Order: sequence, then C-alpha cells, then structure tokens
Amino acid sequence: SFSPENLMWVHNDWILGAFDAASKRFAEKDLEVSVAGRSFMITGANSGIGKATAMAIAKKGGTIHLVCRNKDKAEETRAEIVKESGNKEIYVHILDLSETKKVWEFAEAFKKKYKTLNVLINNAGCMMTKREVNAEGLEKSFAINSLAVYILIKSLIPLLEKSPDPRVITVTSGGMLVQKLRTGNLQSQRGRYDGTMVYAQNKRQQVVMTEQFAKAHTNIHFSVMHPGWVDTPMITNAMPDFHHSMKERLRTPEQGADTVVWLAVSEAAVTKPSGRLFQGGRTQTHTNIHINIYI
Ligand SMILES: NC(=O)c1ccc[n+]([C@@H]2O[C@H](COP(=O)([O-])OP(=O)(O)OC[C@H]3O[C@@H](n4cnc5c(N)ncnc54)[C@H](OP(=O)(O)O)[C@@H]3O)[C@@H](O)[C@H]2O)c1
Repeated sequence: SFSPENLMWVHNDWILGAFDAASKRFAEKDLEVSVAGRSFMITGANSGIGKATAMAIAKKGGTIHLVCRNKDKAEETRAEIVKESGNKEIYVHILDLSETKKVWEFAEAFKKKYKTLNVLINNAGCMMTKREVNAEGLEKSFAINSLAVYILIKSLIPLLEKSPDPRVITVTSGGMLVQKLRTGNLQSQRGRYDGTMVYAQNKRQQVVMTEQFAKAHTNIHFSVMHPGWVDTPMITNAMPDFHHSMKERLRTPEQGADTVVWLAVSEAAVTKPSGRLFQGGRTQTHTNIHINIYI
C-alpha cells in the first residue's frame, strides 16, 4: 500500500542508499556546461522541483518556457529567476494541465510560434483527495499526470525532432513502485477512489509511456526520473503524515532537481540509453525494482 511506512521503506531501502552511492558518482563536471541558445519547457515551474530546475538551467544560459496555471506565481517566479540568474530569456505560459483540450491547443500553438524546443521537462504533478472530472469528463489526476504528459510529448515531437539534441524528461515518483500498470480503470470509475494510489498508477504510466516513446522516436532522448522525497508544497499538502515523519530527511527542492538538471543539460546523460528511469544520475530498470518490491 501507499502508507507512510511502506513509502519510508522504499525511501530507506532504495532511495537513500542509492542516492548516497550515486551522489559520489555524480560528476560535477558534467554540469559545468553552457546551454545558451538551447530552449527548455518546464511544466509546474513556479514551485518546488520545477522552480529549482528552471533556476539552475537559467543560470547556465538556457531559454526557459515556464508553463504554469497561476499567473501571479508564474510572474513572480520569472522575476526571481531573471534577478538571480541575470538571464532575461525567461517566458511565462499560462496553462491548466487538467484542461485536456487546452493542453493540446497550447502545444499546437507553441509548435507554430517557436522554431525550436530542445528539452521538454514534464514536472507538474498533483495528488487528488477526491475524484473530480474536467470539462471533457476525464478524471483530473489522470488528465494532469498522464494525459497532459502524453499530449505535450505527442504534439511537440515534430518541433523537438527538428531541434538539435532533443530530450524529454518526466518527473515520476518512487511511489509508482507500489502499482503495476493497470489499463482497465484509467478513469478511476470503479471502486473506492484512493488519490494516492491513483497518483502512483499515473506515475507508473509515465514510466511505461517513456519506454514506449523512446522505442518509437529514436532520435529523441527520453528519460523519467525519481527526485527522492523532497520538501515541497505537494508533500506538505497531500501527504501531511508522511511529511511529518520524514521532515528531517526530506531533500531540498535544489537537491530534488539535481537529476532533472543533469538529464537536461549534461552530455553524459545522452550517452545512456533512451527510455530509462533515473535517480541520482544512475539508471534503473523499473521492472526489476518492481519485481524486487513485490517478492
Ligand atoms: N516532492 C516529492 O517528494 C516528490 C517525490 C516524487 C515525485 N515528485 C514529483 O515532482 C513533481 C514536482 O512536484 P513538487 O514536489 O515540486 O511539488 P510542488 O512544489 O507542489 O509543484 C507542483 C507543480 O505542479 C503544478 N501543477 C499542479 N497541477 C497543475 C495543473 N493542473 N496545471 C498546471 N500546473 C499544475 C503546481 O502548480 P501550483 O503551484 O499552481 O499548484 C506546481 O507548480 C511532481 O510531478 C511530483 O509528482 C515529488
């Protein structure tokens, strides 16, 4: 189950140990690059891991497209990034990822307006407490965590493909380890609605989707990563008990962003096979981890 005890087990057994070992292998020099002239789209970029990622890449000279649902928070983030990084190539796009049709329209318009997109970072995520549907009647956790990711990738593939060294990175969660892929109840219409398990199922879907996209589009580098357990509003709001029991050991947003940034900017990242799950700069085979956990 997705209980604090179970997640703690995943955290201690897999995450903490692996991060300690991996951080030693994490080559600092991989990150000593300029990405001036390259463009990065980051969803959910006004908070937590997404904001830390945007700040880190802006400091390396990248053009950043912040995709956020809240205009005030997005503009505040843009101003903060410009001030701290000195980089003015920071653009705000307002989009609620739960609105499926609008996600498609946004991506199609972006593709027409901009000549390049080198890196798409699907970072935004949510954990719902009760079942809600969007204007199209789609369950919102699925719409935000899975469908929006699928639509952005699918629609932006032609733009990515004509841009040099294209990459797609999706922020999943170690929470997906408690779920096998199940395609029979994508809209969570049957059974009791358990928001944390729906979230875990969506995060599993992101991992499988990444593998499938990587197989179909071999000229784009796809990866999916787990950030560790990070002190962000999402954890505080959606999992207060977990936050309380873990608070001393949670990573900072900057630490949580380290692997995303590495995947987005380093040359080393694209020497790894496409379609894999990463944590702390180390590639994982999620199916093996899944089997280990279920034994
Ligand atoms: N924190 C952790 O321990 C942890 C662990 C594993 C995976 N993750 C993953 O890390 C990613 C980033 O989360 P975080 O921990 O950094 O939390 P966070 O600080 O709460 O950030 C989540 C971001 O997603 C945005 N978002 C949520 N629903 C949206 C929607 N419908 N449309 C557009 N944007 C939306 C939020 O916007 P608002 O600010 O407007 O709400 C916010 O910018 C998520 O995918 C999460 O699942 C986090």
